[in-house]
Formats: sequence, structure tokens, C-alpha cells
Amino acid sequence: GEALRVGIAGLGTVGASVVRVLSEKAGELTRQCGRDITVAAVSARDKTRDRGITLGGIDWYDDPVALAKKAEIDVFVELIGGEDGIARACVKAALEAGRHVVTANKALLAAHGVSLAEAAEKRGVLLNYEAAVAGGIPVIKTMREAMAGNTISRVFGILNGTCNYILTRMEEEGISFADCLADAQRLGYAEADPTFDIEGHDTAHKLAILTSLAFGTRIAAGDIYMEGISNITQADIRAAGELGYRIKLLGVAQRTESGIEQRVHPTMVPTASVIAQVHGVTNAVAIETDILGELLMSGPGAGGNATASAVIGDIADIAKSRPGFQHGPVFGRPARELASYKRAR
Ligand code: HSE
Repeated sequence: GEALRVGIAGLGTVGASVVRVLSEKAGELTRQCGRDITVAAVSARDKTRDRGITLGGIDWYDDPVALAKKAEIDVFVELIGGEDGIARACVKAALEAGRHVVTANKALLAAHGVSLAEAAEKRGVLLNYEAAVAGGIPVIKTMREAMAGNTISRVFGILNGTCNYILTRMEEEGISFADCLADAQRLGYAEADPTFDIEGHDTAHKLAILTSLAFGTRIAAGDIYMEGISNITQADIRAAGELGYRIKLLGVAQRTESGIEQRVHPTMVPTASVIAQVHGVTNAVAIETDILGELLMSGPGAGGNATASAVIGDIADIAKSRPGFQHGPVFGRPARELASYKRAR
């Protein structure tokens, strides 16, 4: 078949990894998808920065919105980040122009996911966002596709790699919070503004998306009780350890009799529990349902290659989809039919 033409906006840690892996694994991807995947155009702020990738022969756009509307691409990949401004403008433009969209932008989806899903469903294009939640763990496809028929009662987990990396190293190596955070930034795990990681916003964005998938409700990121890890000290970690606990930043959403409860906060988990064994940048997501029982997935939650793996899986999905074929709804059921959100009392 004809090559799938990809336009990528944002060439930070994840964007550069996506370009590199698409080129290194081109043969494998062509065999798997039955067609080539080519990067036709890119857009990023800094044209001169050395990213360790070759961009020869690829069109460069200064304006990501122009790239999003470009007729010569089939898929627009948004890796800019941020809930408003340019990321929102270009995703909206791409969907309205009838392009499929792949995004890793949890902040954008937490704020505007439902209206973007409506736009995608109206145009009959895909809006894929596996990389937005728990990095490389395929939790979106699992919840959206593999768990059909299940009634979910609770979803929770470690959703921020940076925080888990900091808490793990503070405990295991006695390194200071500030030094651990600096390392997480150096390794490309942290958000551009790491306040989003350590104060819990990033976990809340991801939890809001999982809540919608779990309970079929409209996204309600503003309803999340949120407390980060910036006040956690070595003394706290030691005291928890003496009592037989580890401190983890958890995001928890559950259905109660009066409505849905969503919260993000540092939690003492028993040292012997499975969730306590999740170390470093690894994330974990637990899902409890009536049919399946309890599912626990863990894997790399941040970093260029792990996140690129999810982005490329989403692109490959589109490469394999047939034109004119009715795509599944973005949040597991049509956006217009998502139930209104009712918070627990
Ligand atoms: N800053 C995020 C994290 C990146 O540390 O988990 C992945 O979404």
C-alpha cells in the first residue's frame, strides 16, 4: 500500500526518540503494517539544536498549526505539551482538517479531551493517546478495547515516573530530593516545568483520563484532590520504613455509592505489597473489575524510548486501519454519550 505520511510537532526527548526509532525500525514496521511509515514533516522551536537524529529530506515547519493542516500528511503527531496554546490549536486544526492525531499530551486531554474526541469522531479520524498515560504501559488500549463488558470499580496506580524515581532513590540511596529531581530532569523523565510532576498535577491529568475510561464519564480533572511529594523528607521515608511501609505517590479513582472519588497523594503502602516493589521510573496501574478481577500492569512510565514505543504503536494502529472503516470511540464510548460526572460526597 501507499506510505503513511507522518508530521511530527515537537522534537524534545520523546519527539527525537520517535524520529530515531521510526528510522531504525523502518523495515520491521513496514513488515508489521503492510506499508511504509515515513516522517514527511516536522516542527520544533529550535532548528539548530543537535538532537542526534537526521532530518535530511524532511520538510521543516516553523508553525505547527501550518503543519497540522498540511495536506501531504496523514497523521499529525503532537509532542509539544501544555494544555492550551499551541498544542491545543494544532490538534484541533489537524482533527478539523481530517487528519488522524497521535498525542502524548495528558494535560491537553485532561482539560479538553472530550471536545477533541467529539471533533475526531465527527470527522471519522483517530485520536490516539497511549503515550499520555503511564508512558510505555499499554493501559489505554487495554481499558478501551480489551476490557469490554467489564464493570470497573477502581483504578489506581503509580502514574508519574519522576516522583517514583525520586522516592525510590531517596529511600535506597539516601540522596536528597533536589539531587534526585535534577537527575530525573537530566534523564528526560520530568516535565518541562517539574512542578507538574512533584506537586501531583501530572498524576492528576493521567488519572482524569483513566477515570473517564473506567467509568464512562466526562473528564473531570478539576475534581481531583491533589497533594504532591515536595514535602516528603528522608525522615518521613525512614519512619514509614520502620513501620513496614513505603511511600508512593498514588492516583486513585473509585466508584462509591454516592459518586466517583478521585485523589492523588503520597500513600503508605505495605513494604510486602506488589505496588511497593515498583521501583524507579517504573509506573504501575491496577484495575479492579467484576469479570476480570484484578489486573496489574507495570512498566517504564517515562523517558524517550518507552514513550516513543507507545507513540509508534499508535501510529502503527493508524497505518493498519482501513480508510472509511468506522473507528472505535476515543474514550471507549462515543464522546457525546459519556455520562455526566458525579463526585462522591
Ligand atoms: N513527567 C512524566 C513522568 C513523563 O515523570 O511520568 C511521562 O508522562
